[in-house]
Formats: sequence, structure tokens, C-alpha cells
Amino acid sequence: MDYILEELKRLKIEEKLKEILYFENIKQHSIEWGMNYITFSPSKRVRPLLVLESNLSYSQLDADSYLLGAAIELIHTYSLVHDDLPCMDNDDLRRGLETLHKVKSEAYAVLVGDALLTRAFGILSNYSKIEKLPLILKYFNEKAGARGMIYGQNFDLEAEGQNLEIEAINEINEHKTGRLLELCFVVGAINAGCDKTDLDRMEKLGSIVGHIFQIQDDILDIVGNKELMGKNTGSDEKNEKSSIPLIIGIAKAKELILDYKQQAFNLIEELPSNKYFFNKFIDFLINRAK
Ligand code: IPE
Ligand code: MG
Ligand code: MG
Ligand code: MG
Repeated sequence: MDYILEELKRLKIEEKLKEILYFENIKQHSIEWGMNYITFSPSKRVRPLLVLESNLSYSQLDADSYLLGAAIELIHTYSLVHDDLPCMDNDDLRRGLETLHKVKSEAYAVLVGDALLTRAFGILSNYSKIEKLPLILKYFNEKAGARGMIYGQNFDLEAEGQNLEIEAINEINEHKTGRLLELCFVVGAINAGCDKTDLDRMEKLGSIVGHIFQIQDDILDIVGNKELMGKNTGSDEKNEKSSIPLIIGIAKAKELILDYKQQAFNLIEELPSNKYFFNKFIDFLINRAK
């Protein structure tokens, strides 16, 4: 855990995000105010970190690495704002703060989310390796869009009140959480100049990280500490969701995580460098309490 916090500091992630994303001198309750409010509330910054570390597996960081991390953080952030809306998971606490629809109104939260998503592409317009940009944009659309994260969010909502098989839950998790994590691994590797074989390996690793991340999220939704996590527990049960720990139990869900951990370790072994980070990161995901 400490090692991951040190990595976040060493790579100056919070500072760089602030440089790229923070709005100065804004009016309270304006759209930019809401964007600052949620973007700079306490976050683990897992996605920018993964972009940078994937990049570092193959080559050095540059300003573009941070732009990619910032753009994905914006997409992740908008997805949380919308995920918490009354028409979706109806949660009133996120990152230790009142959710934006509580702060002002539902329409406001929808619009702040829209603005965060749009801005992700504004940030990408500063990406300097122009020849790589079409491929990067293609992956952003594929992973975050109608066949990616949004497909997963829609499936997740449609499945409320149903008893899903584990295969269907996996399908939801692979999309709602996995696809954006895959995007982190893939674009970090593209920025580093990787070929298709490397990209495919990184994509797979992202998918496994997604499974581990979401199963742990679902376990914490049952047994986590609200104060520590900064969000309410029991949201899945309240919304009659089928999560893996809810249908097979926490002990079995933890066993499943260990299977994924082994799969992740096998892929990490194939990386040219940065194996230590990724091994530590998988342990961090499994042991996290927030
Ligand atoms: C949400 O999954 C995934 C996305 C926002 C795309 P959850 O609904 O389980 O996430 P939390 O528990 O609200 O953070
Ligand atoms: Mg949800
Ligand atoms: Mg939710
Ligand atoms: Mg959850």
C-alpha cells in the first residue's frame, strides 16, 4: 500500500493533474466549480497511475503520458457523477463528499458530467504525437463508449432485480469497469511506441485488473467502512444488483480474486520491465479497504 502511495508521489500525479485540469477563479456552483469539486476530491488516482506505469514498462514518460492519464481520469470522474444519480445508483456520498446532484440539482450533475466527458477530448487535442492520435481516439471510443463502459453501465441497470448467472455478472464487470482500465494499459503502451503484440498483452492485463478491482469493490460494498471509503455501503443490495460476492459469498469471491491474481502474475512476467510495480499493484488492489 505504502509503495503505491510513494509511486503516486514520485510520479507527481496529483500535481500534474492539478496543472492540467484545475480551474482557477471560478464562481461557486458554476459548471467548472462542479468539475473541480469532484475531480479534486480524494481519489486513489488509479487510472492515471496505470497509464504512466504501463508507459514505463516500455519507455520513459513525457508530457503526453500525463495528458492521457488526465483524459481518462476525467472520463472516470464523469462516470461516477452519472453513476450516483437518482436514476442510476442513487447514492448521496462520493469520495467523502455530498454527490453533485445533492449539492445543487440533478440537471447540474448531468451537465457537470457532460462537461467532464467533453473536456477529456479537449485535453487530448494537446497530445503532441499526432500520428498516434487516431488510434488513441479509436480506443477511447471503443473502451468508454456504447460498446464499452456505457454498455456495462446499461446492462448493470437493466439487470437490477434479476438473479444473474456469474457469466452475466462477469460481462457487466468486464464492461463497466474493465474497459476503462484496459484503456489505461493500452494508451500507456501506445504512447511508449509498443507494437500490437504488446498492446494485446496490456489489454488482457487491464481486463484482469478490472475483474479484481470490481470484485473487491463489490466486497467492500458489503463489508467496507463507509468513513474510510467515502461512499455508502450496501448500495448493491439496496438496488437489487447481482454482484459476485452477493451471489457466491465473500469467501468464494476472494478465492476467485486469487485465480485472477495468478493470471495477472503470469502476464506481468512477460513484461520487459516494471514487473515489481505491477505485482505490488495487484496486491494493493486485493488488500485495499477503500
Ligand atoms: C460503477 O460501478 C462503474 C462505473 C462508474 C462505470 P459501481 O456502481 O459499483 O461503482 P461505485 O460502487 O458506485 O463506486
Ligand atoms: Mg453502478
Ligand atoms: Mg455505483
Ligand atoms: Mg460498487
